[in-house]
Amino acid sequence: MTNEKMSFATIQSVTAETELSVYSRMPLAPATGRGCRITDELGKEYLDLYGGHAVALTGHCHPHVVAAIQAQAQELIFYSSAVYSRIRAEANQAFLANAPFPGARLFHCCSGTEANEVAFKMARLATGREKIVSFNGSFHGRTIGSLSACGIEKYRKTSGVGLISSHVQIPFGELDALSAIDDQTAAIIVEPIQSLGGAVMASDDYYREIEKRCRAHGVKLIFDEIQTGLGRTGSFFFSQQVGVTPDLTTMAKGLASGIPTAAVLALPEIAALSKGGDQGTTFGGGPVAMAALKATMEVIRSEQLVENSKARGEQLRVGLNAIPGVVAVRGRGLLVGIEFKGPAKEIQGKLLEKGIITGGSSEPTVLRLLPPLTLQEADVKEFLEVLNSILEDVSS
Ligand SMILES: Cc1ncc(COP(=O)(O)O)c(C=O)c1O
Repeated sequence: MTNEKMSFATIQSVTAETELSVYSRMPLAPATGRGCRITDELGKEYLDLYGGHAVALTGHCHPHVVAAIQAQAQELIFYSSAVYSRIRAEANQAFLANAPFPGARLFHCCSGTEANEVAFKMARLATGREKIVSFNGSFHGRTIGSLSACGIEKYRKTSGVGLISSHVQIPFGELDALSAIDDQTAAIIVEPIQSLGGAVMASDDYYREIEKRCRAHGVKLIFDEIQTGLGRTGSFFFSQQVGVTPDLTTMAKGLASGIPTAAVLALPEIAALSKGGDQGTTFGGGPVAMAALKATMEVIRSEQLVENSKARGEQLRVGLNAIPGVVAVRGRGLLVGIEFKGPAKEIQGKLLEKGIITGGSSEPTVLRLLPPLTLQEADVKEFLEVLNSILEDVSS
């Protein structure tokens, strides 16, 4: 073991020599993080409006979450869900105290794509049907089932050869297309704000119409709330804002503030159909993850992060709409898509130079913000000022 610190250049070359080259990376290596700020290996500070890929829900290294992880790691790092666990039971109670569906049941797993695979299986088992409907422009993960539901060609192509033929995609927002929800359909999966797709939404009525068609044909409704859930869009789940009750809701990202965790929340009726052995995963519901999940739920409540997402989202929208050069602002709460006339990548690069991390999207003109829900009023002001000055420079 060596205590010598690797230089950033060495980190880059070692990474290239030791990992698959599948990520196009930002040119930085975060070393420490507190709240909405990170410091990289070179000592440069950043305002993080990307949140480590929408994961730093409670901010980086929230002291309550850190303390919970440390305390649990000293007691028991891991045991699988083959045993009972006090911390898992406590985490479940803390989660369900925030969740809006009485009597719903959780299944814990490890990643967003796994949660969606579990939801597909539950829908197939419940209906005896195979067809899964999804929308053009949506993203649901990288495993074959989730990829087969993906509506972005660039990602579908990564399967190399064909995908599951009983998964069909339809245009998002088009009423006629909903005729695909029929008596052969097991489930429809909805990413209610298509985040990677450029923060694209449908009208509130459209989500309700999807639910109506599902009920009429005995089809299970899956809401992929992996990005929209847990308070980011101004309610605990996005589905609450449009008055829809999905049979299955999938979650991941910031569920445990960065300890890898995901879950499926199932309404009582479909939950009751699950039998021993139907689902399972080694790491799902492990003690450290559950301690972090419980602490995350406590912080969301005690710091009123759902309300903060809404307020900071409003502040961002008002500010962004007043900046010349911003063509449109999309999304809700702290899931924000900013459309520019030209390539968003250039603006993203300039923001990074000035110490602000943002995300791209599959729409070349759309930049995304997925910041911690602890974002402060002053952080928003800082971002708006920097963006304004960048756009002034670009247009002059
Ligand atoms: C909406 C949505 N669903 C599913 C996933 C897949 O999650 P994971 O990368 O944890 O498998 C993502 C990841 O970005 C996502 O944004």
